[in-house]
Amino acid sequence: MTRLISRRAFVGAAAMVSAWSLVGGPAFAATTRNSGHASPRVRRLLAQMTVDEKIGQLNTMPSAVAGEAAAFNPAQLPKALSGQLEEVRAGRIGSIFNIGNSAVIRELQQAAVTGSRLKIPLLFGADVIHGFKTVFPVPLAEAAGFDPVLCERTARAAAIEATSVGLDWTFAPMVDIARDARWGRVVEGAGEDVHLGKLLAAARVRGFQGRSLTDADAMVACPKHMAAYGAAEGGVDYNSVEISERTLREVYLPPFKAGFDAGALTTMAAFNDLNGVPASANSFLLDKVLRGEWGFEGLVVSDFGSDKELVAHGYAADEREAARLAFLAGVDMSMASGLYTKHLPDLVAKKEVPLRRLDQAVLRVLMVKDRLGLFDDPFRRIDNAQKPSPIGRSDFVDLAREAGRKSIVLLKNDQNLLPLPASGKKIALIGPFADGKHDLNGPWSLFGSNASSVTLAEGVRAALADPSLLIVVEGSKPTRAIDGGIAAAVAAANAADVVLLAIGETELMSGEAHSRSDIVVPKAQMELAEAVAATGKPMVVLLRNGRPLALDGAVLAAPAILVTWFLGSQTGHAVADILFGRQSPSGRLPVSFPRASGQVPYYYAHKSTGRPNPASFVQPFSTRYIDMLYLAQFPFGHGLTYGLIEYASLAIDNAQLGLGGTLTVSAIVTNRSTRPAEELVQFYIQDIAASVTRPVRELKAFRKVALAAGASERVAFKLTAEELAFLGSDMRMRLEDGKFKVWIAPSAEAPGVSDTFDLAA
Ligand code: BGC
Repeated sequence: MTRLISRRAFVGAAAMVSAWSLVGGPAFAATTRNSGHASPRVRRLLAQMTVDEKIGQLNTMPSAVAGEAAAFNPAQLPKALSGQLEEVRAGRIGSIFNIGNSAVIRELQQAAVTGSRLKIPLLFGADVIHGFKTVFPVPLAEAAGFDPVLCERTARAAAIEATSVGLDWTFAPMVDIARDARWGRVVEGAGEDVHLGKLLAAARVRGFQGRSLTDADAMVACPKHMAAYGAAEGGVDYNSVEISERTLREVYLPPFKAGFDAGALTTMAAFNDLNGVPASANSFLLDKVLRGEWGFEGLVVSDFGSDKELVAHGYAADEREAARLAFLAGVDMSMASGLYTKHLPDLVAKKEVPLRRLDQAVLRVLMVKDRLGLFDDPFRRIDNAQKPSPIGRSDFVDLAREAGRKSIVLLKNDQNLLPLPASGKKIALIGPFADGKHDLNGPWSLFGSNASSVTLAEGVRAALADPSLLIVVEGSKPTRAIDGGIAAAVAAANAADVVLLAIGETELMSGEAHSRSDIVVPKAQMELAEAVAATGKPMVVLLRNGRPLALDGAVLAAPAILVTWFLGSQTGHAVADILFGRQSPSGRLPVSFPRASGQVPYYYAHKSTGRPNPASFVQPFSTRYIDMLYLAQFPFGHGLTYGLIEYASLAIDNAQLGLGGTLTVSAIVTNRSTRPAEELVQFYIQDIAASVTRPVRELKAFRKVALAAGASERVAFKLTAEELAFLGSDMRMRLEDGKFKVWIAPSAEAPGVSDTFDLAA
């Protein structure tokens, strides 16, 4: 039987939508919805505002204080602080972003609340992505922890530090699903999977926003970039996106919905064109889905100049039209371009933008300020300068180390090379990332400094009983050889018992506008790796990376490989904790590592072809390249522990699942080694035949299980019929009777243990 499911039951992928052909077109009339929650105080304030003052509230500008913002955003001409203060007093700015200096924040807020006519406080935003001064692992790394509570804790710590200088609003979490490893911004999100993406989006929002937004240490969160930015064609940043409505709703939108359900009150419209309508003017996304279907009440900010970019997209003839289109589609606040201040006055005067719509957008901005408690006390965060300052608190430092450890993924460990003994062995730590205060924090650390982060050499040295047994050699630069570098590295390797090879990507090889066409370890480092490997010394590869890499040659052949991403403040200590076995690795890949760049986009939850991917080359005319299998080198969910984990005895408590019923699927997981381990047990399903083809596997749940040496545990997952629903070809959620396969497995492409059951709804 087939059943249609109500939207109430499936808010994440709403039913009853109209035809995709209408996307972004003028068919979606501007609505008046979702401003009903503004308080009487805010409504009274609105009644006193002139049109220009209203428009001022819709304008956010980068800080005029050089330094932080300037390094990260495209060339801009911020006015000097004096000019910005004047704008604030004149009511032409409602928000300022990317300032980390509390004295400047105070001065600006003072100007707003004493110098402007209506004394409306400013909203201070910033890219607090993975920490403020204490830097946690980049979000992709942290996602490898498969640990929502950890993400909530690091976001909380980041908010406590950031609010202590007066910041109210973080442009995070970045919740874009990323399935093309070339895309530089894969580093900023939770990876390729929808289920994990949803959990981490919600956790990060909870962490940033804390218990109550009025708390002096709470920041309002901003899931971004709405939407499908991660599906950029060719993995080129800012590129156009062409995806079906199904893919949009099933893959790219759910993490946003999860973030809003967790209470996020703002979102950022993306740079990309989505099926012919740029996201920053896409009323289907911003009005129909976001406000209409999801009931989002908060404020939508453009991305940095994304309103103005409608002209370059070929969607608006000029900037005036761009301002009108972005605004009417649902972008309430313009970031950095100044387009609204420039053109909305005339657009409103000529009634091309109805006053009612202007009021609605202003109410949303004021509502966010109100919910943050800024009208009661505009200095609540600025005056929150706690004594002692929370910045760099020792528990945050410990948390950075814990998060670092939990983010590390052990890809390979032949003959149990790891963990290493902390004494008695001579170690050669070789490579451009072995030492030096660089490339530790990752590409999106606006306020933290590499100079205060712990290098690998420092971490390893601190862990060794006799630090003089460590030799550190650079070997090569990240992208070029150095004179005598390889010879020195080979000599060091020959003199050592074991080599740690610290290679990979610099911070500038991922992040915004830093996509790569070839996601490999750069040539100079490969030459170093080959030469060091040729010494025959046991070699542990320590990868530094902001994305999945296509590993090859001596690197892939190394007996042990640890993915260490960019781990932030405590990098060296976190890596040493794993290397020397103070902790068994527990991280898992949140993104598949492909075999070669030419294979991307590659993700585990793909569909099956009519000639499914074979596991070997034996089968001709099947889904593979002539020179490479269409399987991951290291799939999503993969990661080893220092234990030896075995999966057995899958049991399903009921051969048939009915509507409203629950099924329990369990398996016995055993640690057959003499070391304790923490195993990430993963639960996948496949709908074997459906009226719309379904992915070969979908992650539905996971659990981390601590297993002492020799210990066993039966790990169980519950499944309801409703969790098996999908979007039918009519874009309505439906449940269809039939067979499902389930796996409990250590990765998305490992066989684990599996069985089938029937859905009879
Ligand atoms: C990025 C956003 C960021 C904004 C403000 C843009 O270039 O795409 O993610 O929040 O700048 O810094």
